[in-house]
Amino acid sequence: MARIMVIASGKGGTGKTTLTANLGIALSKLGKKVLLIDADVAMANLSLILGMQSSPITLHDVLLGEAQIRDSIYDGPGGIHLVPSGMSLENYKRLDSERLAGVIKEIEEDYDYILLDAAAGIEKQVISAISASQEMLLVTMPNPPALADAEKTRQIAQRLGAKVTGVIINFVRKEKGEIPQQDIANFLETPVYGSVPDDPEVRRTFSQEKAAPVIARIPNSPAAIEFQRIASRLTGLKVQEDAQKEGFIKKGLLARLFFWWKK
Ligand SMILES: Nc1ncnc2c1ncn2[C@@H]1O[C@H](COP(=O)(O)OP(=O)(O)OP(=O)(O)O)[C@@H](O)[C@H]1O
Ligand SMILES: [Mg+2]
Repeated sequence: MARIMVIASGKGGTGKTTLTANLGIALSKLGKKVLLIDADVAMANLSLILGMQSSPITLHDVLLGEAQIRDSIYDGPGGIHLVPSGMSLENYKRLDSERLAGVIKEIEEDYDYILLDAAAGIEKQVISAISASQEMLLVTMPNPPALADAEKTRQIAQRLGAKVTGVIINFVRKEKGEIPQQDIANFLETPVYGSVPDDPEVRRTFSQEKAAPVIARIPNSPAAIEFQRIASRLTGLKVQEDAQKEGFIKKGLLARLFFWWKK
């Protein structure tokens, strides 16, 4: 039975699709059976990042009730399987995202991990992706606007019954002004599963003729190493933990910053 996990952030451009692709390949390298689903049905990017060709049958067809989910699964790099989303905006307007949970149930026995790449925002398609998942990985950046959106997304997950398993902090530069990891864990009341550096190699996904996520191109680059560490942690392998205290203590600058907002 698969762990069904949605990768969400609220805010756009935090690195959800990047994490989905790289984490998926990292889990596959650990011997897990992995399916990635491009649940960003309006702005489908996942197949592009994975360097895959446009596919005849997509999640759009499945959510329109015109194809079976099994017919929309394609082999991807590093042993992963992918359900891509379609590029047609015309179809997008007609599709019924509430079918998602039901169609995932049809294939959950076939995988160890099913990762859903969610869209930004909290529109209907995001709600459907969260509702179809048992767990959420919450992606944020170490700044207040990203954190505010992550908190809203966390609250939605709670209401919909998805467990927020871990936070991934992305674009970490270890610069002055960044919110420290422990404060982020405290604020979101969720353990930090990874702290992914801002790594220029990640941006070079499209630098070769065939696009490829960083983990497939340069597995020893700083971001790729962190994606592999997150995968190990998810699968229960022992990883070197950054000092993280037990429990979540609301104190410091961040607590003051959000004191009224969180009430
Ligand atoms: N750790 C990183 N270091 C450097 N660049 C990164 C990193 N993570 C993501 N990026 C780059 O940031 C951009 C946005 O990433 P991505 O598309 O994964 O975000 P997203 O959250 O899926 O966006 P959207 O909300 O639009 O779906 C991409 O160009 C990606 O290559
Ligand atoms: Mg995306």
